[in-house]
Amino acid sequence: MAENRDTVLSVENLVISFKTDHGILRAVRDVSFDLRQGETLCIVGESGSGKSVTSKAIMGILANNAIIEGGHILYRGENLLEVSEDEFYKIRGHKIGMIFQDPLSSLNPIVKIGKQITEAMLINSDKLKTMYNDLISDDLIRYKNTLAKMNIAIANERKKLDALVTSIRAKEGRSAAEKAQDKDLIRRKQAEFKAFEKETREKYLSKAKEYKDILTESEKRAKKEVAAYKQKVTEEYKEKEKALKRKLAGETTQEGRERLQKELEAEKEAFESCLRITKAEAKRRALQIMKEVGIPEPEKRYNQYPFEFSGGMRQRIVIAIALTASPEILICDEPTTALDVTIQAQILELINKIKAERNLSCIFITHDLGVVANMADRVAVMYAGKIVEYGTTDEIFFDPRHPYTWALLSSIPDVDSKERLEAIPGTPPDMIYPPKGDAFALRSKYAMNIDFREQPPFFKVTDTHYAATWLLDSHAPKVEMPKIVSERIKNSLEGSSYDQSET
Ligand SMILES: Nc1ncnc2c1ncn2[C@@H]1O[C@H](COP(=O)(O)OP(=O)(O)O)[C@@H](O)[C@H]1O
Ligand SMILES: [Mg+2]
Repeated sequence: MAENRDTVLSVENLVISFKTDHGILRAVRDVSFDLRQGETLCIVGESGSGKSVTSKAIMGILANNAIIEGGHILYRGENLLEVSEDEFYKIRGHKIGMIFQDPLSSLNPIVKIGKQITEAMLINSDKLKTMYNDLISDDLIRYKNTLAKMNIAIANERKKLDALVTSIRAKEGRSAAEKAQDKDLIRRKQAEFKAFEKETREKYLSKAKEYKDILTESEKRAKKEVAAYKQKVTEEYKEKEKALKRKLAGETTQEGRERLQKELEAEKEAFESCLRITKAEAKRRALQIMKEVGIPEPEKRYNQYPFEFSGGMRQRIVIAIALTASPEILICDEPTTALDVTIQAQILELINKIKAERNLSCIFITHDLGVVANMADRVAVMYAGKIVEYGTTDEIFFDPRHPYTWALLSSIPDVDSKERLEAIPGTPPDMIYPPKGDAFALRSKYAMNIDFREQPPFFKVTDTHYAATWLLDSHAPKVEMPKIVSERIKNSLEGSSYDQSET
């Protein structure tokens, strides 16, 4: 995928399987997408298509039986699948926040809401450490980035080699001469790979060394800067304290003494909050965020337990918790599926508001295209562990190309009749035995022979719109999208496209 300056997160060729009692389940099969600064990317697909597994991989919270078979998840160029646990926490905990479908499961039922919101802030409360990390982060990421790029370049080349070897071994009925020739070819390609690997390592490692030196310098500088800051605020505080204590010693009235005592305490709190997030400060910020996410009477609500909140309010609390770390990226995994329609609309509105105010980049996951229209800048349609089509929201809604996207569009309840016009026939495939070729072929009346044999590549529709369907191949017969979809498109171009459907 093209490198883009504005790309905050890119998922490249992600492959995730699960060990199960029945065999290896292929949940995510070569998924790639970019998330750009400030956009909302919706990932849409039926239940079981691999949406949650993808988002959990980004968060680093996959189940124990998961196997990450391949791919990269780059956050601002840093491979999240490769960073150390410490860095991993720093990045994921701070920069990427996640909201799940069921707010109850992400809240602790026996801990007051206020404490749950402040907890996250108090874990990362050391301001000097944060200051240090911020000072070195650009240089650190650039250094790490170089190593990640090296590994990716080599891994991609190795994959090509492996694919070649596999395809040669799969050939049947080769003559002895052909076998010898193939063997020769493999040997040559292996040697080429070795040379590429060596050259790539040399190229990147010399760059990496340069960046490492810069990083070491900047670490030294940052250490000094942080120490100087600490010394400055400590001295300033000591002086204020001394002066106040002197005054206190000379003060004769009870009232004056109390006032000075209070001033002393305030100075101490101010000093401490230069070094760490204090409990008082955490509470102030929690109340502010509670207000931001639309919780009325935050002071009162602060001391209540989750069961005292409605479903919608609980989801607001979960959003508040995700926001305490000031994330750059927010992943919302079906955040409104468990809520009723009116509440759902309110939460969607809230997410859009927060996204705009905080300039967040958002991955919004849903099985409901009706919700997508209201949220997305771009849409990726996922089926059976693969992205089958992606494009801008307009392209997906007004010029869809994959039969699965057509099926999804046909199944949105109609705005006027509220009727679900056409259910998608059949069920998604068993991912322990993923179908060959286009996985949707089994359920598609547009399927051609090749769909059952070969995985379609992405065909380009526009610079921003791609679909993996053989229907876009130049040899394919011309097929029109189903009438129900084209009529829907015509109608929505005339009226409003927003649809408050509940599913
Ligand atoms: N821990 C697990 N063990 C085995 N299979 C799993 C596990 N987690 C998810 N899966 C399977 O992976 C596939 C994708 O699941 P998921 O990403 O949750 O789908 P959805 O698109 O509905 O979010 C499904 O077939 C699901 O059953
Ligand atoms: Mg899910």
